[in-house]
Amino acid sequence: MIQILNLTKDYDSLRAVDQINFNINEGEIIGFLGPNGAGKSTTLKMMTSFLPPTDGNVIVDDLNIYDNSKEIRKLIGYLPESNPLYMEMTVYEYLEFVSKAREIPESKFKSVLKKTIEKTGLASVISKPISTLSKGYKQRVGLAQAIIHDPKIIILDEPTSGLDPNQIVEIRELIKELGKEKTLIISSHILQEVQAVCDRIVIINKGKIVADGSTEELKAGFKGRNRLHINFIGNANIVDEIPEKIPGTKISSLEKKDMSSEVIVEYSSDSDFRPEIYQWIKSTDIILLEMRREHVSLEEVFHSLTLEGGDSNEI
Ligand SMILES: Nc1ncnc2c1ncn2[C@@H]1O[C@H](COP(=O)(O)OP(=O)(O)O)[C@@H](O)[C@H]1O
Ligand SMILES: [Mg+2]
Repeated sequence: MIQILNLTKDYDSLRAVDQINFNINEGEIIGFLGPNGAGKSTTLKMMTSFLPPTDGNVIVDDLNIYDNSKEIRKLIGYLPESNPLYMEMTVYEYLEFVSKAREIPESKFKSVLKKTIEKTGLASVISKPISTLSKGYKQRVGLAQAIIHDPKIIILDEPTSGLDPNQIVEIRELIKELGKEKTLIISSHILQEVQAVCDRIVIINKGKIVADGSTEELKAGFKGRNRLHINFIGNANIVDEIPEKIPGTKISSLEKKDMSSEVIVEYSSDSDFRPEIYQWIKSTDIILLEMRREHVSLEEVFHSLTLEGGDSNEI
């Protein structure tokens, strides 16, 4: 439905978005994740045809942002990061203004408004000036202007940023509801935000796509480290033998307790040294109480992919 093709943006000498490619299918809820400055907002501005690319293209159905900018804007609802609102207007006046700008016929305005305020929970504040609303409600007004023309694609740039925890939960619920009938793209620099609502995560770092997949796919594709926690009774110092006897492993910590000790053995996730480690334990006098593999978390994948300096994810 949406194809992003070699999309590139230079701001003078800074390449903010660097030849990115990905597709979005109808009905998907995509999390566009990356640290601050990664190029998320720049990409979304190009997708919504607010900012011309330096190179590449965005195709929506059979339209493209160079030749069909106006048509594409009709298909998309967009809530920019800054959520620009006219503070002196009431919610009603503002939505009336947006409705005119979107060329919604006046005869339809009432029913469109009713639907929009139902979906965004704005009924109780409809006559209030926007300036008097809480940040959570201002964000609802931002969502309302994004959906008023019933677009099939909704793009939200950091929609929960700056909200308090209760407001975050409320906005997330609204977003989940919208996701049931729309194609949704949500950007965030916080993994938990996108993990809570998205089916698929596209990670951008320094203008480049560094990962694209479901949570499970991202974890499976991660070339990071395994950590094996071994709890045992016996002479703790003997674990120094492990890296000598089993090349590729290293001891990342050793904690001696009253009755037992716990060692953490690390190795690259390309390999599984559990059989060798178990054989080694059998060859010693130590008594094994527990051997547990720590599962890689998505936080670790994200952190590793977006580390300062880039893509080093080796031990
Ligand atoms: N209008 C602009 N002029 C110059 N540089 C910009 C402009 N907008 C963004 N940048 C730079 O481009 C990079 C990407 O920015 P942005 O797309 O806003 O990232 P994100 O939304 O992921 O935080 C950053 O280094 C930012 O400083
Ligand atoms: Mg941004």
